Order: sequence, then C-alpha cells, then structure tokens
Amino acid sequence: MSLALGGVARPDSATAGTPADDRILLSVSDLRMYFPVTQGLIFERHIGDVHAVDDVSFDLPRGQTLGLVGESGCGKSTTGRTILRLYKPTAGRIVFDGVDITRLGGEALRRTRRRIQMIFQDPYASLNPRMTVGGIVGEPLTVHGIGTKAERRERVAELLDVVGLNPNFLNRYPHEFSGGQRQRIGVARALAVNPELIVADEPISALDVSIQAQILNLLERLQGEFSLTFLFIAHDLSVVRHVSDRIAVMYLGRIVELAPSGDLYAHPLHPYSVALLSAVPIPDPVVESRRRRIILKGDVPSPVNPPSGCRFHTRCWLRERLGNPERCTTEDPRLRTLAAGHEVACHFAEEVDGSIEQRQAIGVPIPIAAGGIASAGAATPAAAALAGQAPAVPPAAPQA
Ligand SMILES: Nc1ncnc2c1ncn2[C@@H]1O[C@H](COP(=O)(O)OP(=O)(O)OP(=O)(O)O)[C@@H](O)[C@H]1O
Ligand code: SF4
Ligand SMILES: [Mg+2]
Repeated sequence: MSLALGGVARPDSATAGTPADDRILLSVSDLRMYFPVTQGLIFERHIGDVHAVDDVSFDLPRGQTLGLVGESGCGKSTTGRTILRLYKPTAGRIVFDGVDITRLGGEALRRTRRRIQMIFQDPYASLNPRMTVGGIVGEPLTVHGIGTKAERRERVAELLDVVGLNPNFLNRYPHEFSGGQRQRIGVARALAVNPELIVADEPISALDVSIQAQILNLLERLQGEFSLTFLFIAHDLSVVRHVSDRIAVMYLGRIVELAPSGDLYAHPLHPYSVALLSAVPIPDPVVESRRRRIILKGDVPSPVNPPSGCRFHTRCWLRERLGNPERCTTEDPRLRTLAAGHEVACHFAEEVDGSIEQRQAIGVPIPIAAGGIASAGAATPAAAALAGQAPAVPPAAPQA
C-alpha cells in the first residue's frame, strides 16, 4: 500500500511541471498575532496586547527546511500555530501552495489543515494516554474520513514501520514506550494524512541527547522519502544547524536575521545571532579555545510593551560598543539584504562583520595587530567578509 492511500495523494498543483524546490510552498507576509490582555472579572477591560508575532515575513520553498530559532517566549510556537491556522491572525497574509489561507474557514480550512501537520515538543503530553497507538496514529485519518476501518489499520501499521516501530505495537498504550519511541509515534501521526508541510515545534528538546540524533535522522530520511517541507522550531542554534537550508532568528516577535544555514554560522550579522551562536559548543578543541561566550544582560522584555526603536536595544552589546547611538532607541530597524539571501534587522550590522565578538563566536583566529571594534562608518564591508575575504579594517584585539 502506498502512503498516499485513501485519497490523500498530493493535489496536481503541487506536482505539475516545475522542479520541486523552485516552488514556494509557504509564503508568510507581515504576519501579526496579538493576544489580548484583559483586566477585571465581571467587566473585562482590554488593557493591552501580547505582541507574540509582529510583522514576520518569510518564504519557504517546497522540499526545504527553515529553522526558526530564538529564546523562550520570542513567538516561535505562535508563528507555527498561526500558520497552521490554529489562531486567527491579527494581520498579515499566509499563502500556502498559492492559496491565501489567512481568513479561510469551514471545509476549505479543514482541507488545508490536512496538508499541514505538526510535531510537538513533548511526546509525553502530546499523546492521549487512554488511546492505543493505533488510535492515536489513525486519528487524523478518522477525523478526515479517510479509508475504511481495515484500510486505516493497515495504513497505521505501515506508518509505524516507516518511523522504525514494530507494526505489531498497534494495540499498545503510550506509557509502554520510551521518549524516543513516543516521538516516533508523534511523527507517524503527523505523516498519516500525507502532509506537505510539517511544523516541527522543538521535536527533540524533551528527549535524551542520545535519542535526539536518531529523531533528527528519521526526520531527514522522511523528508527525502516523502518530499516534505519543514518549519523546524528550536530554541538554540545547535539543533537546527544540520537540518536547515535556511535559518530565521527571532527576537521578541520579530525575525532579526534570515540567512542560508552555512552563512549564518560563518557570518552571523545580527548582534543577537552572534550571542546565540557564541553559546553553541563546537566539538573541536582548537576552535573552541578561541571562542568566548557573550552573556546577554537582563531578561527578554515583555512582549506587551516591546522596547522602542530596536527591540534588542536593552540587551545589545554592539549598541554599547558604539556609544549608545540614538537611532537604536528611536528607529525600528527593518530587515535589509546584506548579501545574497542574507537579511538582517540592525542599523549597524556592517559593524558586526569582522568584529571580535563575531570572530570569537565562530572561533576564527584574531590577528595580533588588531585594534578594537571598527567604529561606525569605518570600512568593514560586510560583503567582502561574506565572500570569504579578510575585512578591510583589521578586527579587534582580544580583550584581557
Ligand atoms: N494563547 C496565548 N494567550 C496569550 N499569550 C500567549 C498565548 N500563547 C503564547 N502567548 C505569549 O506569546 C509569547 C510568545 O509565546 P510562544 O509560545 O510563541 O513563544 P516560544 O518562542 O514558542 O517560546 P518557548 O521557547 O518557551 O516555547 C509569550 O509571551 C507567550 O506568553
Ligand atoms: S539596531 Fe542598535 S540595538 Fe538594534 S541590534 Fe543593531 S546595534 Fe543593537
Ligand atoms: Mg514554543
């Protein structure tokens, strides 16, 4: 039996003519998701909004993986859930396979939901303990009225096999499985209706380190086998490195940097991305000895009242280095392109390139003759270093 059983084969629009990865499967523009904050028990007053997702835009080509990374509370899950249309977006546009699904409802939304599935972070909480594995994995088929009972049973057995579980486990309950096995059950459930896009919300962060690689390998294998497109959410940059084609770094509801995966790790250009990257261990003692972690000051500000100007200004090491330029607190930096496919939302991103902090974060040697971070307006062309050349101005000397 094929995994496209029960009338869930891909629609023609998804398969015709054009090469697979040339097509944009998901396009998100200026997406906003605000949650109202109210006061009062009887007469609820609207006193503000949680700006969970605020003007997020990206394209996701078919068959690719976009890693979405950022600290807790920055809006990653809300972005994923809004794309799944579990929430009604406050503003913006979500186009899936050429169709605007932002305001879709009823049967049309139900049909679209079948094509976008989610894998959850916690394989313990996300599986109903009272249902058998067969019931859990087969639930989406039942909900969408796909196949007869016997066909559904056969398909569930096939799906268990695909994710590396014994098809005879059909009648067992979640508590009889380990964390890694439960996540495999979650993956099988997500695959049941033959989706095109999978939103994987921190799918390995609740698992033992020893199991994490197995689940990542499984997802990569399935992506190849079933031409899946992934939005892969993680809270640190180490997890998404090997699975993502591109990476979007989020801070307080915004994407602050969006770049091809290799570029982001070799030339992070937003001060926040540099800080995140500095925390990722590199398994090479020589490289690791050149690195220094940037500890960000303070907590993430409240998304109810995000800071004025650049949202990162209350914690930004670069702003401090540059003498606290006024622009950081008055002008909201929009994403701008600094190299092919590499967008950054920082007024002074050129100053990051070749800086001591960037070099220490990625483990590049620091020349002895260097002399402090280049001042604003100095010749530190991002493009030159992005192309792999040495920056025009020598980077800073190591600090004592
Ligand atoms: N249903 C909701 N109602 C009100 N506020 C919400 C709701 N869901 C999320 N939020 C708030 O929106 C912000 C973003 O939350 P979200 O869960 O998207 O962050 P996250 O990046 O996924 O964090 P984590 O890494 O902890 O999962 C947080 O301040 C959160 O408290
Ligand atoms: S705009 Fe200013 S505060 Fe924001 S990241 Fe750039 S230097 Fe830092
Ligand atoms: Mg989350």
